[in-house]
Amino acid sequence: MPASSLETIVSLCKRRGFVFPSSSVYGGLGSTWDYGPLGVELKNNVKRAWWRSVVHERDDMEGLDAAILMNRLVWKYSGHEATFSDPMTDCRACKARPRADHVFVAQKGRDPKGLVEINAAIAAKELSCPKCGSKDLTEARPFNLMFRTSVGPVDTGDESGLVYLRPETAQGMFVNFGNVLDTMRRKLPFGIAQVGKAFRNEITPGNFTFRTREFEQMEIEYFVRPGEDEAAHEMWIAERKKWYLDLGMRADRLRVREQEKHELAHYAKRCVDLEYLFPMGWSELEGIANRTDFDLKAHSRSPENPDAVGELRYFDQEQKKHYVPYVIEPSAGADRGTLAFLCDAYEDSLVKEPPAEDTAKLRELVESFARSVARREGMDADVKQRLQAAAESIAAGLPGTLPTLIGLMDDAEASKIEVMKKVRGVGEKIAEEHTRTVLHLHPRLAPLTVAVFPLKRNEPRLVELARGIKRDLQRAGLRAVYDDTGAIGKLYRRQDEIGTPWCITVDFQSLEDKTVTLRDRDSMQQERAPLDEIGPTLLARLR
Ligand code: GAP
Repeated sequence: MPASSLETIVSLCKRRGFVFPSSSVYGGLGSTWDYGPLGVELKNNVKRAWWRSVVHERDDMEGLDAAILMNRLVWKYSGHEATFSDPMTDCRACKARPRADHVFVAQKGRDPKGLVEINAAIAAKELSCPKCGSKDLTEARPFNLMFRTSVGPVDTGDESGLVYLRPETAQGMFVNFGNVLDTMRRKLPFGIAQVGKAFRNEITPGNFTFRTREFEQMEIEYFVRPGEDEAAHEMWIAERKKWYLDLGMRADRLRVREQEKHELAHYAKRCVDLEYLFPMGWSELEGIANRTDFDLKAHSRSPENPDAVGELRYFDQEQKKHYVPYVIEPSAGADRGTLAFLCDAYEDSLVKEPPAEDTAKLRELVESFARSVARREGMDADVKQRLQAAAESIAAGLPGTLPTLIGLMDDAEASKIEVMKKVRGVGEKIAEEHTRTVLHLHPRLAPLTVAVFPLKRNEPRLVELARGIKRDLQRAGLRAVYDDTGAIGKLYRRQDEIGTPWCITVDFQSLEDKTVTLRDRDSMQQERAPLDEIGPTLLARLR
């Protein structure tokens, strides 16, 4: 079964070295995450697959790596200084700080007509705090999401050295439009692609790496003749959807959603979101917007922009005239994409029945957990109902519901109940022996491509051959590791859990006939393969 909660993924990520809470030796820093040894490989593979698809495999694209710190004027004329903000209100009673526009929409059932209408509703006591219900709310104020810092050794305090950490990579591509056009002698249509960090002081980060304050984007700015923008937009919607599907994402968990008029950013004529069905529901993976000529015009010298040094426009040889191209922007999140691929790849299942007495003991503990939840005071009613219902249905369905129990054991709220410790003690032991967790990652995304094991670690000839095979595979360009720290079955299970598509076992027959056992993660099929064919076979499967 797929991951029933994000906690299951968070727990696997921590346990197996994909993602750790950041600065944990000092108690962490809310909503910031560090990619561990396997996570960095996975995310790099996602970025590499994107780059290959949108730059290397196309003739109409160029890459770029612009600076994170840019002239402050970029953000003045892009509109971010004035508009990249959320309206916030403070609740005087409980000190919560909700987004005022969200409160307005939730309580009035429609969008507000700007800050003025929100504040009129607050003043008339028509809105209440979503946390405690009080109507004692402060006037809503815009809270700019850009992080500020200053350039130079002294902070003069007068904003003369003020710069922002970029909140999107896009502007780096707009301001380099002329450079790329001229140096690469491009004709329309052509695009620029960039991968890099972006920073937003999000009011409500959360859901693991889904929404953070520091994240990576994979963005394309695709420049076209005005009038050809709508067809190019459709082309990119299809291309980008296909990219996720080609990398194995399940079609029933990926959908295209048209943004409604009121959702559109100030620069967009149309925007389509690619959404993924995360454990917390359908959520945006990537936005594909038609930004018209807004950005290139905004950064061109004009009465509205006396600071720009020139005009970002294009001379069309065929039409013998200058104009400002339109731009289509497929903007994806590298962290969000990585999280989606992880959720999509996750599967756990019961592989053999545990002894009846073990199941009975576990059932008793899970039932005791359900009773403790029911008695618990001060717990949010929704959480209480969710935990109790989950525990009761798990208890009734054991041992078939063992994989679901793993999800419950990882649940942060469930961990607050004392008896969960006992559930975990017994449950983890049974789960380890009787369930199988697999990440069915596409081989091109998997952190490791192949793991090589000797059948016996105290047999020097097997160890030497296995290490030699691993070295040869590394030299052939494959991400290969050697492991001899457990029995073969356990080593297979460990590699399944981190998504390694293939394992090789070297045994005594290998010494005689130079063949090895090649095991496939998804089918669990084992085949005997000649040693010298393994490298080329795996490289071909990766292509
Ligand atoms: N240049 C357009 C732009 O930045 P966006 O919808 O704000 O558009 C594009 O962001 C993508 O960047 C999103 O679809 C998401 O994948 C990713 N993203 C945005 N904010 C994020 C955050 N706080 N944490 C993680 N990823 C984020």
